[in-house]
Amino acid sequence: MYQLEGWVMKKIGILTGGGDCPGLNAVIRAVVRKSRRYKWTTIGIKNGWKGLIDGDMILLNDRHVSGILPKGGTILGTSRTNPFKEQENVKKLAENIKKFSIDAIVAIGGEDTLGVALKLHKMRIPVVGVPKTIDNDLSGTDYTFGFDTAVSIVTEAIDRLHTTAESHHRVIVLEVMGRHAGWIATMAGIAGGADEILIPEKPFDIEVICKNLKARYDSGKTFSIVVVSEGARPKETDKFAAISDEKDDFGHVRLGGVGNFLGKEIEKRMGVETRVTVLGHVQRGGTPTAYDRILATRFGVTAVELLKDGNYGKMVALRGNKIIPVELEEAVSKLKTVDMELYEIAKVFFGGITVEEIVDTLV
Ligand code: F6P
Repeated sequence: MYQLEGWVMKKIGILTGGGDCPGLNAVIRAVVRKSRRYKWTTIGIKNGWKGLIDGDMILLNDRHVSGILPKGGTILGTSRTNPFKEQENVKKLAENIKKFSIDAIVAIGGEDTLGVALKLHKMRIPVVGVPKTIDNDLSGTDYTFGFDTAVSIVTEAIDRLHTTAESHHRVIVLEVMGRHAGWIATMAGIAGGADEILIPEKPFDIEVICKNLKARYDSGKTFSIVVVSEGARPKETDKFAAISDEKDDFGHVRLGGVGNFLGKEIEKRMGVETRVTVLGHVQRGGTPTAYDRILATRFGVTAVELLKDGNYGKMVALRGNKIIPVELEEAVSKLKTVDMELYEIAKVFFGGITVEEIVDTLV
């Protein structure tokens, strides 16, 4: 439905899809406020793509976005609805775009939400994407908003677990989010000084983990912190630990359980008292960090500029210190997994320093 020459943009729709994350409201606010500069009306589409199928929308004005910058979650609600699962829903969605006179859409989401946006772009519906995921696994952008907040929360958790692990001489396993990519575990693990970090990109060997932990004990340390992404798995299997086999609209199962598996194995093999903490949705809730508020605001303002320029089918992205447009196709074609150079830095702190190493440094 790309418009004819001379047509003027009047109304844009905005939606948030997939798992929520801190900073969504900052994007919504930025989109509404920047749109007003162009005298556009903004319509909030409720609960991701579901709202467009059901025709569940709300006109957004300054009042709606006032005071939402520091608030977590999304004032629009979200869902993991995939309209392309049923052709009938694609029809309804297209009809509602027409019915509500929506000229263009800002879709804020991760690989699934933006995958739908790309399909709509191919149907010639004007759309731009804003990258959101605490997992930081979207290609094309250095960072997604929400990730910095999640890393801060996990780092604080590691700090807190350190003191109790040290007092009780225990191993504490901390399971964090990260379905396909271990960015949260790696970055927070480095920030919090984890003694072992296990990520989906590197299937683990339980014997090697215990060997490293034992080396720590041999070097005089009486506690250890192991950080594990929910999507990490032992090398013997290609199965992830899942809470149930039920899949969402995009084919994802709910992950969880690898932390408990590890805790039991470590305790059994090492004979050291072990505890497991699963951080879960605490990582996604609450107020965004200053970094995420700024990034989200820059993304929102730039998304509106792309629409103004007719630069559809793009996602706003952070490259270095600049916000640039990248093709939606590039953003969703493959996941951005952990940079192995970064993981090597984290690995320097795994295991213990042997007596031989200490002696070597003395001579
Ligand atoms: O997509 C982000 C994410 O937080 C993943 O890290 C996690 O696996 C998943 O969402 C959890 O989804 P839900 O909120 O549906 O349980």
